[in-house]
Amino acid sequence: MSDVTVDVFELGSEHEQVVFCNDAATGLKAIVAIHSTALGPALGGTRFYPYASTADAIQDVLNLSRGMSYKASLAGLDLGGGKAVIIGDPATLKSEALLRAYGRFVQSLGGRYYTACDVGTFSADMDDVARECSYVTGRTVAHGGAGDSSVLTAYGVFEGMRAAAEVAWGAPSVAGRVVGVAGVGKVGRHLVRHLIEDGASVVVTDVHRPSVERVLDEFPQVTVAGSTEELVATPLDIYAPCALGGALTDEVVEVLSARIVCGAANNQLAHPGVEKMLEERGVLYAPDYCVNSGGLIQVADELEGFSFDRAQQRASGIFDTTRNVFELAARDGVPPAVAADRLAERRMRDVGRLRGIWLSNGA
Ligand SMILES: NC(=O)c1ccc[n+]([C@@H]2O[C@H](COP(=O)([O-])OP(=O)(O)OC[C@H]3O[C@@H](n4cnc5c(N)ncnc54)[C@H](O)[C@@H]3O)[C@@H](O)[C@H]2O)c1
Repeated sequence: MSDVTVDVFELGSEHEQVVFCNDAATGLKAIVAIHSTALGPALGGTRFYPYASTADAIQDVLNLSRGMSYKASLAGLDLGGGKAVIIGDPATLKSEALLRAYGRFVQSLGGRYYTACDVGTFSADMDDVARECSYVTGRTVAHGGAGDSSVLTAYGVFEGMRAAAEVAWGAPSVAGRVVGVAGVGKVGRHLVRHLIEDGASVVVTDVHRPSVERVLDEFPQVTVAGSTEELVATPLDIYAPCALGGALTDEVVEVLSARIVCGAANNQLAHPGVEKMLEERGVLYAPDYCVNSGGLIQVADELEGFSFDRAQQRASGIFDTTRNVFELAARDGVPPAVAADRLAERRMRDVGRLRGIWLSNGA
């Protein structure tokens, strides 16, 4: 990808605004992409990552910001979709001055974009960004923030999985089922707890051995597969991809024995068309952005002054949302991934158009 010329207007033809931010003294090179503000200010995290090229960074921020519009819409939030990337290795480049410079650029957008954590950024970084900027969420608990968003992400994935189980087996429970979890990091670990508590047998895998050990310390009954390839080839009722994107390749779908796929990872479908392959093989796919919106719900709640109970209550709605997606898919005769897009687009259109009713306060 890195040697390809990227036309930002072509690739971002659906996007409202893309902002390039440069501060040579701190080494800050950031791109903020606002996909849609149809439902409210764009919200999405800041990914701090050593992209091989600016073209790669542009591609990533455009894809990610679009995904956030759909996620926020389907989750019923009054938020649009945006995302930011900072180009560079966070281990060597991140500094207070860089984060504050970034904060000033986000501030300059006047609230059209709210930032949060993502790969390479943490709640403490958001505290630094917030020293220059009012439009920050995902801050530390000490600063009134929501803290670790993986708690409600895992909870939401579990709720989505229960809705899928109801469709597949008639009861909203994973009791007695075998669930494979690929990636037991922040989200996967919490998900394992929900699964065990509900009575499932759990098989995990992770490339990072300490993450596996941590799960085994807590739940000795969990079994371990040597690799993701080994996990997907074992007999499973449910497969939960909780590591990186692109988990559902043609090869994986071909060997998968699971009846349900439901996990936390973003962008699980390796390419368009995989959703049809899953359907043809009788696999019920719970769309990633439908079931993994618990973290977004958690940080969005912070904008009202964080209440964990209120956020958890809202995240429990992922059960009904997932059920609605499956219902629409059955009614329209389309894969659930297509149904989720239709529901998200419908809300952006129907609620977004209300801004056309003029109010004297300019809202
Ligand atoms: N944290 C959240 O609130 C949140 C919200 C929405 C979506 N997600 C998505 O969920 C996924 C997991 O997020 P996380 O916060 O738990 O990240 P994490 O980095 O804490 O955990 C990911 C785990 O996957 C493991 N892993 C990486 N490559 C692997 C491979 N090839 N095979 C097996 N394991 C592998 C890593 O070692 C790590 O333990 C990501 O795709 C993330 O984008 C997270």
